[in-house]
Amino acid sequence: METTASSLPKATLAETITIATQVFGPLFAEGVIIRRPAVLKLADKLDLNRRGVDRIQELRNKYGDGPLLLPLPGRPQAVILKPEHVKRVLDETPEPFAAVTAEKHAALVHFQPRGVLISHGAARARRREFNEQVLGSDKPVHGLAARFVAVVAEEADGLLAELAGSQVLTWERFAPVWFRVVRRVVLGDGAREDEALTEQVNQLREAANWAFLHPRRKALREQFHQRLSEYLDRAEPGSLAAVIGATPTDEDIAPTDQVAHWLFAFDPAGMTTFRALALLAAHPEEAEKARAEFRKSEGTARQYLPYIRACILESLRLWPTTPVVLRETTAETQWANGLMPAHTSVVIFSGYFHRDERRLPQANQFFPELWEADRPGENWPLIPFSSGPGVCPARHLVLLVTSTMLGALISGHQVELDPPSLLDPREPLPGTLSHFSLRFRLSR
Ligand code: HEM
Repeated sequence: METTASSLPKATLAETITIATQVFGPLFAEGVIIRRPAVLKLADKLDLNRRGVDRIQELRNKYGDGPLLLPLPGRPQAVILKPEHVKRVLDETPEPFAAVTAEKHAALVHFQPRGVLISHGAARARRREFNEQVLGSDKPVHGLAARFVAVVAEEADGLLAELAGSQVLTWERFAPVWFRVVRRVVLGDGAREDEALTEQVNQLREAANWAFLHPRRKALREQFHQRLSEYLDRAEPGSLAAVIGATPTDEDIAPTDQVAHWLFAFDPAGMTTFRALALLAAHPEEAEKARAEFRKSEGTARQYLPYIRACILESLRLWPTTPVVLRETTAETQWANGLMPAHTSVVIFSGYFHRDERRLPQANQFFPELWEADRPGENWPLIPFSSGPGVCPARHLVLLVTSTMLGALISGHQVELDPPSLLDPREPLPGTLSHFSLRFRLSR
């Protein structure tokens, strides 16, 4: 192990190759911006993401607190190993730990070149404020919650009616309904049937998956943004577009870039809902609790369903949709173990913190109680939505929409996984769960 007064501990070349191939490789291959079904299937089979957790545990055993530098060519990379360091990096965003990194920029520039996540300085501050205002970042229940709950209920009823014959629910049947909800919530009912818009953002995301390795599809990006501005001009009541219409904006805030991010980020929210359904299908007792909560909550009570929100958070803890949170240092930083140079890429592998059974005894089980009474974050970082000044500004909105959908799907039905053995509650839950492959049988 190499440590000096002025430099952080450094991993060996062999360890670095292992991390690159067993931690970052699978995540990149699965698709960072849009998931690739075939690779996810393979990752499921080989439990690749579990291996990633094991490798980081080994580094923590050997190097202790870190941060640990990886001698990769190009920019230095540092892996965070200690909970207090996670907190520091996320709390001290965007200075000296900038949210924008070369990797994120190369990917997101394909469809949201002025998105807040890849902005810095004054532009970032203004775009962040805009996102917080429109998405209701500080409120557990969004100002338009009544409308959003009604939209989800309507679409879920439609889906359940459609399934009445076969009673088999697959991702292929769920996804179009989910994206209808998303378009109605974000842009209004007028966008309900606009599947072409979702297709456009998905095509741009496919290019984004390859980051700088894929040429930019500028014409498609312009068409997509043009279509978004038409919806924003309409500002249909009861949608986020209407809230944008009532929020001061200008060219520099770039509202269509922010909305492009929202349409993209609602996709992982759909996956999360589907995986949470799988968890409930495999855990009948918890499913009954969730069902009871949904049934007894009427009117405004349905806008805040703590137990079902906890089930969604468990789905995110077990299978985080942002498995790696990246930052880039804007200046040299001092740590107990040494100095980290400026322009280092800082890597927080949330999968490791969420699934380290040595620190979190229930790490590999479904345990919604973990989210009760603000327990997480006290001692051990559970960061599905990140944390600090760069925390996901839509976390409450996401929990609202996903919990309503999950509640609606289970309230009138028993749900079984097909095959039921896919998730065995007596075994540690798998490191990957491809939402594409999930199949459910519903019965009244
Ligand atoms: C399951 C659903 C979601 C999860 C788990 C999630 C998680 C996250 C995480 C971990 C970050 C920090 C990323 C980073 O620092 O690199 C983030 C940022 C962000 N999220 Fe979400 N998100 C979700 C859905 C959404 C949705 C639906 C929206 C919008 C409607 C949204 C808006 C944003 C924005 C604007 C940022 C950038 C914040 C900033 O840089 O200050 N997210 N999200």
